[in-house]
Amino acid sequence: MEMEEMSMCVPSNEKESKGILPNREPLGSIVPLLLEWYDQNKRKLPWRENTDPYRVWVSEIMLQQTRVDTVIPYYMRFLQECPDLLTLAHIPEEQLLKLWEGLGYYNRVRNMQKAAQKIQSEYGGQFPGEFELLRSLPGFGEYTAGAVGSIAFQLRVPAVDGNVLRVISRIVENKEDITKPVVKKEISAAIQAVLPERVGDFNQSLMELGAMICLPNGDPCCTVCPVKALCRAYAEGSVQDIPVKAAKPDRRIEERTVFILISQGKTLLRKRKSQGLLAGLWEFPSVEGKLKISEARAFLQQEGISFTKVQTFKSAKHIFSHIEWRMSGYLVYLKEEWKEADGVWADTSQLEKEYAVPSAFKSFYQDCIQILKSNQ
Ligand code: ADE
Repeated sequence: MEMEEMSMCVPSNEKESKGILPNREPLGSIVPLLLEWYDQNKRKLPWRENTDPYRVWVSEIMLQQTRVDTVIPYYMRFLQECPDLLTLAHIPEEQLLKLWEGLGYYNRVRNMQKAAQKIQSEYGGQFPGEFELLRSLPGFGEYTAGAVGSIAFQLRVPAVDGNVLRVISRIVENKEDITKPVVKKEISAAIQAVLPERVGDFNQSLMELGAMICLPNGDPCCTVCPVKALCRAYAEGSVQDIPVKAAKPDRRIEERTVFILISQGKTLLRKRKSQGLLAGLWEFPSVEGKLKISEARAFLQQEGISFTKVQTFKSAKHIFSHIEWRMSGYLVYLKEEWKEADGVWADTSQLEKEYAVPSAFKSFYQDCIQILKSNQ
């Protein structure tokens, strides 16, 4: 299952809780300092060239899962192929997934297309400039609606992502678990109370401080922080202990055996089921478990696949939020193309341009392309 943006729905008994952030007074005073710091230090990023809601939205969705450096080339290519809502609403899904290939969380881009279609049909092709209307679009959680609303429409709403939770938690020395919805809600309310007119810039200054100075994992650069004089955690020496986050449940480990079937300059790709993990994307055929080479040969024979050679290929690991795949690959040369109901035989050009193969298979995919090219 892919994780979607966390909902802000809070159980009613938790709503009553008070005093989670007792030290919130410094927040009002950080506003001018952070805006000044942002004006002087913000990174020059392609989505900051203007505040067009479409551009802001695409960047915010990409940045929810991926680092800025990685996002930039994806962003540029996406805008080139899908420069506006109308194009996004109509682009064939295979092409859309190919543009997203490697970014992961593919339901996000599917939801983007649904949102683009809704904006076409219900709002005449213009983004609605109201928080609740934004929030009701597919894929728009509190964060996305807050970021697009504040940056593109100057709506007075916070945009609270992981960076912002960390920054605010340190400034007010919040030692409560930031994964609890009630804590996130309190932090959002505390920010809401101090939002200035330049709300989009202020929200981004918090994110930027989190990305450049107030770094996670014991690595903050407090000496150059523009708000260190107001930071309670800095004063109390507790920066390293904040934020507090509940440990994530262990990942389930799944062993898989992956077959790279080769025949006449092509490889077999199979379309994944339309529901669940990596739904609808293309993959190399695989089976559960770690088969020895003799077992792999026996399996292929049993499936009626006649091969000329089976070779140990490579192993790879891929970590999803909740599962870890440990994959052993075999390279299988076939006498002739084998028919598979949900499969296609793809040549290098199709692998590169047509079929979206998720990053879980990246190392097999790259080597397979090399093998096919070297056999040409
Ligand atoms: N992370 C997500 N959105 C961002 C933005 N607009 N600026 C900086 N970092 C971000």
